[in-house]
Amino acid sequence: MSKYEPLILAFCCHYCAYAAADLAGSMRLQYPNNVRVLKLPCTGKLEVNFILAAFERGVDGVFVAGCLEGGCHYLEGNLRARRRVERAKEILSEIGLEPERVDMFNLSSAQGPRFAEIVNEMTARLTSLGPSPFRPARGAEEPVREMTEQAEASLSGENHDCCQS
Ligand code: FES
Repeated sequence: MSKYEPLILAFCCHYCAYAAADLAGSMRLQYPNNVRVLKLPCTGKLEVNFILAAFERGVDGVFVAGCLEGGCHYLEGNLRARRRVERAKEILSEIGLEPERVDMFNLSSAQGPRFAEIVNEMTARLTSLGPSPFRPARGAEEPVREMTEQAEASLSGENHDCCQS
């Protein structure tokens, strides 16, 4: 039987976490390659349903990474995202999944090392929790790839209504 490696989906704000992930790559920082990144124009675009859809497709964990508090380019997008992450945790608990499978982090575009640290931290946490019961036997890579492509295409518009709850 192959060793369990958690599959993680990261919802990353274009302005900070996505740039930090890029920086981590250019700095050749070591972190597991089990994270798939979905770029958002702002974490305020995140809906609770996106998180639940990721679990439905078989990811073992999700993290949301937005700008530092007070640094969101759409003012309060990251605060709204944090509330949605809290709501997603409640729903996961209600359906019998550990709420620790979801988390929110804030970082700046200059924090490449912090991005690597977050991936390592989430990987360690999800490794100890074990695979999600929704993980399909044939693996979640393909459904998650399709989901990220579709979501990025639909979120790439210029109409950033990030501050609407
Ligand atoms: Fe980065 Fe809003 S612009 S979280």
